[in-house]
Parts: sequence; C-alpha cells; structure tokens
Amino acid sequence: MLKGGKVGLRARHEEDIPVLRTELYDDVVNAARAESGPWRPITPGAKDPRLTGDNEEQGSVPFSVVELAGGTLVGTATLWGIDTHNRSAHIGLGLLPSRRGQGYGTDVVATLCHYGFVVRGLRRLQIETLADNAAMLRAAERNGFVREGVLRSSAWVMGEFLDEVLLGLLATEWER
Ligand SMILES: CC(C)(COP(=O)(O)OP(=O)(O)OC[C@H]1O[C@@H](n2cnc3c(N)ncnc32)[C@H](O)[C@@H]1OP(=O)(O)O)[C@@H](O)C(=O)NCCC(=O)NCCS
Repeated sequence: MLKGGKVGLRARHEEDIPVLRTELYDDVVNAARAESGPWRPITPGAKDPRLTGDNEEQGSVPFSVVELAGGTLVGTATLWGIDTHNRSAHIGLGLLPSRRGQGYGTDVVATLCHYGFVVRGLRRLQIETLADNAAMLRAAERNGFVREGVLRSSAWVMGEFLDEVLLGLLATEWER
C-alpha cells in the first residue's frame, strides 16, 4: 500500500465494488462530471473496468483510496494514460460524497505524485478537470500543479458544454 498523510492507496478489493458503484457511478451528475463519456448504469456483478480495474492494462493503474486510520474505503484514484516514451501520465480521482472537503483529495494527489515520480520514474503528470471544479483545482495547485491552459467548451456535461482546465507538474518542480 502507498501511504500518504491521511490516506492509503491500495489495490481494488471485491467488497469495494458495490460501494463505488452506488456512491460514485450510480450518481448521474457525479459520473457525468467525472467521466468524459456518457453516463450509463452499471449492472451489479458486471465486470466493468471502471469498477474492477484492469490489472492487465499496462497504461493505467487503478487504486482504491482508504483512510490510514481504520482502512475505510473513501474513494478511487487512477494513474492513467501512462506513456513510457515521453514519461508522462494523467491523474484522476473521486471521493465518496461524505468524504469530500476533509483534505483527502489533496493527500491523494500527493500520493499519486509520489507513485508517478518516484515509483514509476515519470517526468510529467497532468490533470484535466472542469473549470468549475474548485476543489480539484485547489487540490492540484496545493501540490504544485500549474494551470497550463483552458480547453474551451471541451466537455459535454448534463446539457451544456463546459470548459476544462489543463494542469501540469514536472518532476523537477515537485516538492515532496
Ligand atoms: C475533487 C475532489 C477529489 C477534491 O478532494 P477533497 O478531499 O474534496 O478536497 P480537499 O478537502 O483536499 O480540499 C482541497 C482544497 O479545495 C477546497 N475545497 C474543498 N471543497 C471545496 C468546494 N466544494 N468548493 C471550493 N473549494 C473547496 C478546500 O478548502 C481546499 O483548499 P485549501 O487547501 O486552500 O484549504 C473531491 O471533492 C471529489 O471527489 N469530487 C467529486 C469527483 C471529482 O470532481 N473528481 C475530480 C475529477 S477531475
């Protein structure tokens, strides 16, 4: 398990799946904002890679996020789009609604940076988030990510096109 200050990042366990499906993916607004594709329901028991994680997929590493104190599941985190030629990857995360706003997101980003830069030897990490996602923007910037651009009207979300912000962090800029 990777350990941050408050959270741990571990493999996806079978018992995580119904919680994540109910709390994150069955919530149409949350899922529509967090994913780049259209919302679709996930059948209980289905081997959907969004829930199960694909251990064979080398370009993506799915984690479950747990509280270090007690081990309770609080969300998901992913290092995805891993490019071993350009040594870059993207970060994605989602916390259960009851666990937001307690500093966990900032800690997850820090722990994913450790995984990307130290464990995987990457040089650049990137985050794309909706321009109105103040908590994600702040959690990224608290970890040293800088805004590199705005992708205008790039996301179709619940009936409207929204801007996305692109943030990047280089290994040379990162402060552990
Ligand atoms: C985005 C998310 C991961 C952030 O994690 P979090 O644990 O809620 O964020 P934190 O508690 O670490 O807060 C980070 C900063 O944002 C601020 N913040 C938190 N919630 C906020 C809100 N609703 N509005 C404005 N600012 C907020 C905090 O005060 C903190 O700022 P500070 O460091 O100056 O005190 C989490 O809210 C979440 O899972 N949201 C739904 C899914 C999602 O949007 N995922 C990202 C897709 S790219």
